[in-house]
Amino acid sequence: MNILLTGGLGYIGSHVAVVLTEAGHQVTILDNLCNCKIEVLDRLEKILGRAPAFFKGDVRDQALVESILKEKQINSVIHFAGLKAVGESVQEPLMYYDNNVGGTISLLKAMKNCEIKTIVFSSSASVYGIPVYLPYDEEHPTRPQSPYGKSKLQVEEILKDLSDSDPEWKVVALRYFNPVGAHDSGLIGEDPAGVPNNLIPYVAQVAIGKLEKLKIFGDDYDTPNGTGVRDYIHVMDLAEGHNSALLYVSENTGFSVFNLGTGNGYSVYEVVDAFTSASSRKIPYEIVDRRGGDIASYYANAQKAKKFLGWSAKRGLLQMCIDAWKWAVLH
Ligand SMILES: NC(=O)c1ccc[n+]([C@@H]2O[C@H](COP(=O)([O-])OP(=O)(O)OC[C@H]3O[C@@H](n4cnc5c(N)ncnc54)[C@H](O)[C@@H]3O)[C@@H](O)[C@H]2O)c1
Repeated sequence: MNILLTGGLGYIGSHVAVVLTEAGHQVTILDNLCNCKIEVLDRLEKILGRAPAFFKGDVRDQALVESILKEKQINSVIHFAGLKAVGESVQEPLMYYDNNVGGTISLLKAMKNCEIKTIVFSSSASVYGIPVYLPYDEEHPTRPQSPYGKSKLQVEEILKDLSDSDPEWKVVALRYFNPVGAHDSGLIGEDPAGVPNNLIPYVAQVAIGKLEKLKIFGDDYDTPNGTGVRDYIHVMDLAEGHNSALLYVSENTGFSVFNLGTGNGYSVYEVVDAFTSASSRKIPYEIVDRRGGDIASYYANAQKAKKFLGWSAKRGLLQMCIDAWKWAVLH
């Protein structure tokens, strides 16, 4: 299959590019480089022996997207391109709705004009909001707490309406939990600009000595050891989930949504312990006040993906930390 990855030079997209190319697909990437480096393309070439086709541009440029869809005879699109910092989305909601919602509408118009009606969308567990029950299954109420989460839910609703309007559309939304780790070559991984927002990249920078110590935001949550619990999933497991989702979506019309998580929650202390083992470094930390808006605990019910996609995560927390450490040391 010929597959377009919007935002395909980013963290998740670059790992998906590896998995899909190795599975025999022809991958084309469109990325405006707003949150990644062009070097990722050379690194993909090192891993794969050839670089995927690449176009620098914005997903909101409908004419450009249509020309790529035609030139590359694209069959399916995986739509990663978007902004993802929850805190920034609170400060800059228009930027988030413009890029995440506006960008998707523009992409869908281009796809419709080219009669390409198969899409996998990068959604997020943040669509669920404060847990009414755990684990979150796909039927859990959706009450996102930030403009970022709302933008993901709005896109899901647009995709649902579109597939209701035309039964030829084949649409899957994947609700990712907390992707971490890196490709085991250490050549690609998560590369945040500035101080990382996410726990494992932050811990990696503490282990390597770039940051002095980890701040743990609260140890008095209602969790087994008081620190926050999240469903961390190895990015290669997540990437393999896209291959399964592509197979599913090519055979099923309509709109479907799947959680991609492990189904296990890990606390901050467990992450620190696992990273200490993986890196053989000390991770100094201090407990500070809770952060406004943080949830004590959340994790996925991953049964629907197992049943319909035939996919489940294989790699555990230690492997996530080993690969995140390799990436931190090598890049
Ligand atoms: N990483 C996570 O924790 C996480 C969790 C849930 C959902 N997601 C979603 O998955 C997707 C990929 O996430 P990621 O972690 O790889 O993020 P990322 O920022 O590393 O990758 C996104 C890529 O999209 C590109 N991009 C952004 N806006 C664009 C535009 N208008 N046109 C073209 N390219 C554009 C960026 O340059 C970047 O390379 C995002 O939609 C994100 O919201 C991520």
